[in-house]
Amino acid sequence: SGRQKLIVANWKMNMSLQTITSFVEKLTLAHVRSDVVICPSFPYLFPLSELIQKFNCDVELGAQDLHWNESGAYTGEVSAKMLLEADCHYVLIGHSERRDSGETDEMISKKVKQAISSGLKPILCVGESQGQRQIGKTAEVIRKQVLLALEGIEDISSLVIAYEPVWAIGTGLSATPEQAQSVHQLIRKTIDVQYGSISESIPLLYGGSVKPENASGLSAMTDIDGALVGGASLDAESFAAIIRGFE
Ligand code: G3H
Repeated sequence: SGRQKLIVANWKMNMSLQTITSFVEKLTLAHVRSDVVICPSFPYLFPLSELIQKFNCDVELGAQDLHWNESGAYTGEVSAKMLLEADCHYVLIGHSERRDSGETDEMISKKVKQAISSGLKPILCVGESQGQRQIGKTAEVIRKQVLLALEGIEDISSLVIAYEPVWAIGTGLSATPEQAQSVHQLIRKTIDVQYGSISESIPLLYGGSVKPENASGLSAMTDIDGALVGGASLDAESFAAIIRGFE
């Protein structure tokens, strides 16, 4: 496909100052070659950035969320500008755990806009639930999530999309490479209809119980350009093994 593989760690609400230090040390020793991004909780962005420099570790930082406004009275929220100051290049948007706690397609779309206009690369997360898959609604749900998130957005050159079936997140039950490929193909087609051939250069990541054992099978699929890894990204050795599985 010619697309560079991209492997993203989503630490969610895990890790500590102590564990992030040994993580960076171990990951550096693993000499990985793909593009790698780590998305820690906000308080660890600055210490991680220092550790990455100290160990000369070739990874980039991402945040797990951002607010769509520039600044103002939004207690508990974090702006794009703050993330840029903290050395972030990427930001996860619309993760299913956030959709679950009330994030709507409209909020997600505002966040994607804000990320793009600020110079952060959005990693837009989409995915169907178990129930939606069972009644044959997967394609419809995914197409809708993608189109609503991108409504009114013209420049998608920095966009990354992660397909994360909700039933595969944290369950140990990954989608099969074929199941994932078929949704990735649908996402690329959806982007192609709306934006044309730039769809060929958009990285499409798979997420949901990615582990060292299933990484290379997923990686072999035409439209799977990398992974968004939760649980297995908390341990540097298993994360490095996943990265190698995608190389
Ligand atoms: O963002 C990461 C995903 O939610 C996947 O999590 O690898 O623990 O299943 P998981």
